[in-house]
Amino acid sequence: MKEIESNKEAWSKISEDHFSAFKSAFENGTHKLNGYIQAELGDITGKEIVHLQCNTGADTIALARMGASQVTGIDLVPENIFYAKKLAADIQVHNVDFIESNVMTLSQSHDRKYDIVFTSEGVLGWLPDLNIWANTIRTLLKDNGFLYVFDSHPFFLSLDESKLSNEQYEIKYPYFGKEPDMEDSIGGYASECKHGVKAYFWMHTISDIINALSLAGLHIEFLNEFTENFYDSGEMDRDGDSGLYNYQYNANKYPMSFSLKATIYNK
Ligand SMILES: C[S@@+](CC[C@H](N)C(=O)[O-])C[C@H]1O[C@@H](n2cnc3c(N)ncnc32)[C@H](O)[C@@H]1O
Repeated sequence: MKEIESNKEAWSKISEDHFSAFKSAFENGTHKLNGYIQAELGDITGKEIVHLQCNTGADTIALARMGASQVTGIDLVPENIFYAKKLAADIQVHNVDFIESNVMTLSQSHDRKYDIVFTSEGVLGWLPDLNIWANTIRTLLKDNGFLYVFDSHPFFLSLDESKLSNEQYEIKYPYFGKEPDMEDSIGGYASECKHGVKAYFWMHTISDIINALSLAGLHIEFLNEFTENFYDSGEMDRDGDSGLYNYQYNANKYPMSFSLKATIYNK
C-alpha cells in the first residue's frame, strides 16, 4: 500500500534522533511510562508482552524494566528496529527483542502468543484498517491475556491543535472522515520536526475502535477519557512528573487522550 510505504520512509527520517533523545532520557532517569498507563496496566511482573508500533524501543525497554519477563517490540521501520536493538544493548536491557513488521500483515508471519498486547501514544492513526488490527490482537493474545491501549482521543484529533491554546475549537480533520490526512512533516515530539515527507494518518472514531475489537471477539473492560495529552500540542503545562500535559482552562471541557483495556470474550 503506497501510504504505508510512504509512512515507513517518513518515520525512518527521525529514527536516529529518537534513539539519541530516548538514550539521554534513560541516562538521566527521566524515561518512564505516563502516570495513567502505570496506574492502569497494573502489575506486569513475569508477563510476556508484545508492544505494537514500538518506535525505537523506549517504552518496550520501560516495560521490561517494570518486571515483564520478555517484551517484543514490533515496528514497520527497519531503522527503528536497528536503533531499538542498539538502545537496549547500550543500556543493557536483555529481556527485549524487536521485529520489523507492518501491523497490518503481522499475523501472516508471527504466531507467538502473549499475556499482554500493549500499544500507546500515537499509534492507531497510522493504521488504515482497525478490523485487521483487532483481529491481529486477538491472534496475539493468550486465552487469559489482555490488550491495553493509550492513545490520542479522536475528538481531539479532529480539532485544529494550533488554536487550542487560545481556547478556539475548530474542526480541521473530519471526525467521520475516511480518507487519510496527508502531512508533509513528521516528528516534533522527541525530535525536531522533519519536512519533505508524505505522512498519511487515518481518523478512527470511538465507535470504529470499540466495534473493531468487539467484532474480533474482545470484551472491553474499560474505556477511560482524559483531559491531559501525552505530548505538548502547543503551550501546554507539564502535569507534574506524570509525563502528561494539560491546559489550565481544560479541567473538564474535552478529552485529549483515552485508554482502553480488553480481554477475550468468553460466551
Ligand atoms: C508515534 S510512534 C509510537 C511511539 C510509541 N509511543 C513508543 O512506544 O515509542 C508511531 C510508530 O508507529 C510505527 N508505525 C506506523 N505505521 C505502522 C505499521 N503499519 N505497522 C507497524 N508500525 C507502524 C512508526 O514506525 C512509529 O514508530
